[in-house]
Amino acid sequence: MTKRIVAYSRLKPKHLDQLSQRFHVDYFEALKDTDDPDFRKALSEAHGIVGSSLLITPELLDAAPQLEAIASISVGYDNYPVEELTQRGILLCNTPDVLTETTADTGFLLIMATARRAIELAEFVKRGDWRESIGEAHFGSDVHGKTLGMIGFGRIGAAIARRGALGFGMQVLYSNASPKPELERELGATRCELEELLAQSDFVCVSVPLSAETTHLIGRREFGLMKPSAIFVNIARGKVVDEAALIGALENGEIRAAGLDVFEQEPLSPESPLPHMTNVVALPHIGSATHETREAMTQRAVDNITLALEGKRPISLVNEAAFLQRTTAH
Ligand code: DGY
Repeated sequence: MTKRIVAYSRLKPKHLDQLSQRFHVDYFEALKDTDDPDFRKALSEAHGIVGSSLLITPELLDAAPQLEAIASISVGYDNYPVEELTQRGILLCNTPDVLTETTADTGFLLIMATARRAIELAEFVKRGDWRESIGEAHFGSDVHGKTLGMIGFGRIGAAIARRGALGFGMQVLYSNASPKPELERELGATRCELEELLAQSDFVCVSVPLSAETTHLIGRREFGLMKPSAIFVNIARGKVVDEAALIGALENGEIRAAGLDVFEQEPLSPESPLPHMTNVVALPHIGSATHETREAMTQRAVDNITLALEGKRPISLVNEAAFLQRTTAH
């Protein structure tokens, strides 16, 4: 029997061809509504799902009784009910590693752009306002030699810290559930409590996965602990930050600026004050969005689903327990 895959998000013909050589593929290029009858029909027969940016609910899983595996084209898996998937024996695969360096580049882009006011001053030139040499009112602040506080020190957090420590001579503080002695040796990084990190850092950069524990991890109290000169960067997920508290901290001058790639609601509402603030650099969730990296992520997802549906261990598996369950059952 040929297994069936439901694919959504923008897959290239090359990836669809690879999948079609082994599986029957129902492809929804621009899926707008999960109640779409064609999507529901495909789901009811699907053994695998490949895609990203769709909230997978238990109700959708009920509509996919044959489902064996999901390959998300993302490293984050906050759109998936992991425990529920594991209970149902459905493998969940993601795409770590291949996007680490690109996402860290985006993190550092936000650090540089906010510190040196690059977007604000490029707009100033574009408007024709540059009529004499600029003075203090347009100065930024240094990045090199400053203290970088990383909240979360996984692969992406470490890659941002590496840029800071090795490229810009920054001191690195980090708060993380577990110590990272190798990174401490490599980067001279110091682990500390969140409160100390917030008080000491010139740049506070969030790079933790979204979970029940990290939702609104940074709120009014945390902004209140930061230096008034601090620059806040979020490269993780919008919901890790209480956005109303962030807006308040920027408006009240509790922090100097923010570089944001992610927001509580995406796409960001045009009503949000954030992109209109001169001291905010707001990007449309471009962490991993380069041609090379999105290609590598999609390839990883294709490889993951292929291995999973062939009964093999996928390269990047989120819920190991579902795989063990399956191997012991057979
Ligand atoms: C990821 O891979 O998790 C990126 O944030 C894109 O969603």
